[in-house]
Amino acid sequence: MKVFVVGGGGREHAIIRALKRSPKVDRLFAAPGNGGISKMAVCFPTKATDIEGILADVRQTKPDFVFVAPDDPLVMGLVDRLNEEGFKTFGPRANAALIEGSKVFSKSLMKRYGIPTADYETFNDPDRAIAYIKEKDSYPTVIKCDGLALGKGVIIAEDFEQAEEAVKSMMVEGKFGKSGSEIVVEEYLTGPEVTVLAFTDGKTVKPMVSSMDHKRAYDDDMGLNTGGMGTIAPNPLYTEEKQQECMEKIFIPTIKAMRAEGRPFKGCIYFGLMLTPNGAKVIEYNCRFGDPEAQVVLPLLETDLVDIMEAIWEEKLDKLDVKWSDKACACVVMASGGYPEKYETGFEVEGLDASGQTEGDAYVYHAGTRAENGKFNTIGGRVLGVTATADTLQEALDKAYKAVDTISFEGAHYRKDIGKKAL
Ligand code: AMP
Ligand code: GLY
Repeated sequence: MKVFVVGGGGREHAIIRALKRSPKVDRLFAAPGNGGISKMAVCFPTKATDIEGILADVRQTKPDFVFVAPDDPLVMGLVDRLNEEGFKTFGPRANAALIEGSKVFSKSLMKRYGIPTADYETFNDPDRAIAYIKEKDSYPTVIKCDGLALGKGVIIAEDFEQAEEAVKSMMVEGKFGKSGSEIVVEEYLTGPEVTVLAFTDGKTVKPMVSSMDHKRAYDDDMGLNTGGMGTIAPNPLYTEEKQQECMEKIFIPTIKAMRAEGRPFKGCIYFGLMLTPNGAKVIEYNCRFGDPEAQVVLPLLETDLVDIMEAIWEEKLDKLDVKWSDKACACVVMASGGYPEKYETGFEVEGLDASGQTEGDAYVYHAGTRAENGKFNTIGGRVLGVTATADTLQEALDKAYKAVDTISFEGAHYRKDIGKKAL
């Protein structure tokens, strides 16, 4: 089989590695890929958001499956276009990807179907939003722009001034472009966060091993929100009991609701959950694997990923037993100095062999690297996701950090407390 993976981050490297393990796969393609991926797949220099460009690459390579991993091409309808041309795909069509593409849509879906989430109001007029915040007078308050914003469209305002500034930056100054023309103002929730990814064919939902992301840039959850600075799986705060509650009150109702709305979701759905004192609530849905959640969840998958992709495509996921290892996995992200704000690139990554790996027991998922003249140079904010699997979380973390110590590039920073809250 030939499989084409759209995307070029650490998540896509993890997907490619899981596909490579399948005895059914003999050729892999990626666009745009990255330095690490280029050692396992033929890469095309096409951006994931260049829909026409990707279609041209796919027509040329004629893969048996196209795996669309990032949010933007899913929301832009790449799967719909590929299906129209007869290609099999993994990932939702645009009308289902809207669950991530529009917070106004996902919040109203949850309200209509009684799925637990923070109370909220939506606004398309900044003055009305500001008046509402003033009247509520309860802080912190959470302000989210409707559309995709590279994970940066959420502001937690500690007082009225911050809230007003957030509304203005989104709706008046247009900091997030069209994404911010409509906003959600929601109740601030507290409790530990858990990510649960789930496979679904639109009818059956099969949750994967849970995980914990670390969104802030620095140790002890200080600094700005990032795409994710590290992950562990499973998340020990997500007990058997929580899993049952979430299955009954969140996962199954969401899949049913999407189907009832004529938007059957096929692929991987991401449940960003908060375990509040009043039960588990949805913080966000994403229409894809998380990054860096995929890097710790996929190494624990024992079933062939291609079998899962086929079962979802054929809507027979109920017939497939998806098996997981009971080991633990940890991923430490090494980022460029300055990330998530301004950062420089073009530095050589030291400590990697010709295949982009390190000695020892860890696996290095590449994100922002490019292979050039037998070396790997940095080209992005999140550069590497150094990942290890072991019998216990402590051992996995030790192995991952030991490998991190052997890798360096100018300005590199990483969190030293990944998984600490889970030990
Ligand atoms: P999101 O991009 O929607 O995942 O939001 C980014 C982060 O903001 C989440 O991981 C939470 O830590 C935080 N957050 C979002 N919504 C809320 C909320 N209603 N209450 C408290 N924290 C929130
Ligand atoms: N790690 C968070 C996300 O992928 O959205």
